[in-house]
Amino acid sequence: MTGLAIAAHGLRKSYGDKTVLDGIDLNVPQGTVFSLLGPNGAGKTTAVKILSTLVTADAGDLRVGGHDLASQAQAARAEIGVTGQFSAVDGLITGEENMLLMADLHHLSKREGRRVAAELLERFDLVEAAKKPASTYSGGMKRRLDIAMTLVGSPRIIFLDEPTTGLDPRSRHTMWGIIRELVTGGVTVFLTTQYLEEADELADRIAVLHDGRIAAEGTAQELKRLIPGGHVRLRFSDPAAHRSAAAALPGAARDEEALTLQLPSDGSQRDLRAVLDRLDAAGIEADELTVHTPDLDDVFFALTSSAPAPAAVPTQPNQPQETVR
Ligand SMILES: Nc1ncnc2c1ncn2[C@@H]1O[C@H](COP(=O)(O)OP(=O)(O)OP(=O)(O)O)[C@@H](O)[C@H]1O
Ligand SMILES: [Mg+2]
Repeated sequence: MTGLAIAAHGLRKSYGDKTVLDGIDLNVPQGTVFSLLGPNGAGKTTAVKILSTLVTADAGDLRVGGHDLASQAQAARAEIGVTGQFSAVDGLITGEENMLLMADLHHLSKREGRRVAAELLERFDLVEAAKKPASTYSGGMKRRLDIAMTLVGSPRIIFLDEPTTGLDPRSRHTMWGIIRELVTGGVTVFLTTQYLEEADELADRIAVLHDGRIAAEGTAQELKRLIPGGHVRLRFSDPAAHRSAAAALPGAARDEEALTLQLPSDGSQRDLRAVLDRLDAAGIEADELTVHTPDLDDVFFALTSSAPAPAAVPTQPNQPQETVR
């Protein structure tokens, strides 16, 4: 199993009679970003807690950093860092003191602890705030401190449970930059997120957790291919033009209120030209034409809707949520 930072086979976990993880497999190569997606309550945090040795699984062959979690949890623990979904920052002490506390926990010498803390505070843009109580930090600052604290022990494998939830777009981008940097340095990142865009940006591979199982797994591109949700949308302001266009484009889905038409399309030049040619031939001009290619949101909605659990490749995808781009 060399080359895999995380290898889980048949991972099971129940709480009472609720099966949270129903025998899932996860393989994460070293130096890559793996993203676990799933709706609230899907079991993402549970998976993170188990793989980071905070909670024990009911069953499964679990290896982290090559160490068997059942017999070598201590050795695995030495290689990992975890940033939980909820902050581990102590608000009563300063950012710097939080960092030094972590350094102590990792048995760094006083001098080494101060060096590492200073370096990380600098890297996470927290030098100015370092001497202030963490309770006075903004959400984004706290989140940055949280992750800086995780890095004190120079872990080779990092678990980040929703690292950017609640961050503004700029802070989110900063965090993405930090994660990319870590991976460039050979660190493996196991990430959960509610933001599909984030998984799309960062992850080498993505797994969608639903009903205790992995509903789909692959690269962002592979997942998008599962959902044939591409379409062209035409919007009109003149009801008469809308009517004529509907006549010229049989098979288009009509929305009488929004005055739109929607046609299945792969978004290719040929496809678009065919639509435009027919409109031209009928002497109709649309006010707006948008091309919608399926994105991870579509995949997510299709795979995690309450409809019967889809197979790995859904044959009857749900109509994706409309987002005009
Ligand atoms: N300690 C616990 N005792 C009982 N049930 C639990 C416990 N921890 C989690 N659960 C249940 O397990 C399920 C999965 O929870 P988990 O926190 O892993 O979900 P999640 O995917 O992280 O959700 P979210 O997106 O809201 O963070 C939920 O139904 C939750 O209520
Ligand atoms: Mg969670």
